[in-house]
Parts: sequence; C-alpha cells; structure tokens
Amino acid sequence: MKSLIAANWKMNMDIKEAVSFIKDFKERVKDIKDVEMVICPPFTLLNEIKGLIKNTNIKLGGQNMHFEDSGAFTGEVSGLMLKDVGCEYVILGHSERRQIFNETDELINKKIKAALQHKLNPILCIGETLDQRDNNKTIKIIENQLMNCLNNISEDEMKHVVVAYEPIWAIGTGKTATPSQAEDVHKFIRELLTNIYNENIAENTRIIYGGSMKPENAKELLSMPNINGGLVGGASLDAKSFGEICGMS
Ligand code: PGA
Repeated sequence: MKSLIAANWKMNMDIKEAVSFIKDFKERVKDIKDVEMVICPPFTLLNEIKGLIKNTNIKLGGQNMHFEDSGAFTGEVSGLMLKDVGCEYVILGHSERRQIFNETDELINKKIKAALQHKLNPILCIGETLDQRDNNKTIKIIENQLMNCLNNISEDEMKHVVVAYEPIWAIGTGKTATPSQAEDVHKFIRELLTNIYNENIAENTRIIYGGSMKPENAKELLSMPNINGGLVGGASLDAKSFGEICGMS
C-alpha cells in the first residue's frame, strides 16, 4: 500500500508564506512517486495552493468540515465546498477539534459519512490523553473512538478512510511516542478493523501516526510494520523538514 504523509498546518500561514512554501516544497519532492503527499492548510489558502500544485504529485486536504452541504451555519465550510476547491482529503476528529470545540464521536461519524458522500477521503484522528494512558485506558479509548466514529460506515466506504493515531500527549509537545509504543496501538487498531470488517479491509487501511513527528524520528516510526505514514503538524510548516519526512516513507 502507498503510504500517506499529510501536513496539518492548523491555524498557520498567510498567502505569501504558503506560496513560498509550496514553490520550495514541490521542487524538493518532485521525484517522490511511491508516497501520497497531502497539504491540509487553513481554508483561506486552499484555492491558492490548488493552482500551485496543479500537475504535481502533491494533493490537497481540508482540516475540518460541516456534515451539511450548505445552509445557515455561520463560520462553517462543507464537504461539497472542499471538493469544489480541489480537496481529496479531509482531517476529521482531530484532538484539537474534540477538546477545544467539543466535537463528539457522534458528530465526527456524521462528518465522515458526509465526506464519503462527496468522495473526500477522511483522515480520522483518534488518540488518548496522558491521563488515560497512565491509567491503562489507551486500548479502551481507542476502541470506543474507532467503533463510534466508524458506526454504519460500510466495507466499501472504508476503502477510502485513513486512520490517524495521534496520542494527545505527543501533539505539539515535542514528546513522540516511541516507535514500539506507536506500533502497539497501530497493531491493535488493525486487529479492531479485522473484527469490525475483515482481514482484507484491515490490511489495506492506512494507519498513520501523528504527534511530534519530525525528520529526526520519522524514519524509525515509518519503518514499523503497522505505521503507514504520518500526520505532521509543527514540522510540516518548514518545506525542508516536511520534504525530508516525505522522502523517508
Ligand atoms: P505535531 O501535530 O506534529 O505538531 O505534534 C500533529 C497533529 O496535531 O496532527
């Protein structure tokens, strides 16, 4: 399976910075063929970046969306709109959305369904807090999040879903899960997918890791058997660092 490296720019970059990043980045990664590379910038940059990555090996993704297509939802953006502006992916259920904006598994499930209807590939984020890990609840939390978020998602639809394991204690903290800590959870997620769906779906679903991934630790993480890529925050804001990570997969 082709690994996936996605940049989660969060609420960073203006148009000028984004243009200079993409011009630099696309040169650095132009020979990479066996990795899917996705940039998920703020909504304000999508249209500009779409023009810059035309005919390249770089794809575009949103960081969030509403589950309705249109209407009176001030401040929201729909899957239809993301598709219209050229997105192929959308990050859903990021821990910052869950923690700061109170998103629940039920809401994320609705968003996944809407994304799939518009032929957007959801990158579903799941992960435990430090407190939950310390209390040996990681497995239970991951199981609940995965089961609830994938409720009523068919086997066929699942072919388009990417799962991102992002331990919350490793996000933006500089604290990375060790390759074996991450691998343990990724392996568990794959087993869960076998139980919910079947072995074929489980084997073909990309399970990517996120949480302080950077050039210094990416190679080891990406070499683990059940880690099929990365969701990169901080290190994706620098074209050189992100290009290096993409080249390691
Ligand atoms: P980080 O963020 O790489 O800055 O830890 C990852 C993420 O939140 O997706």
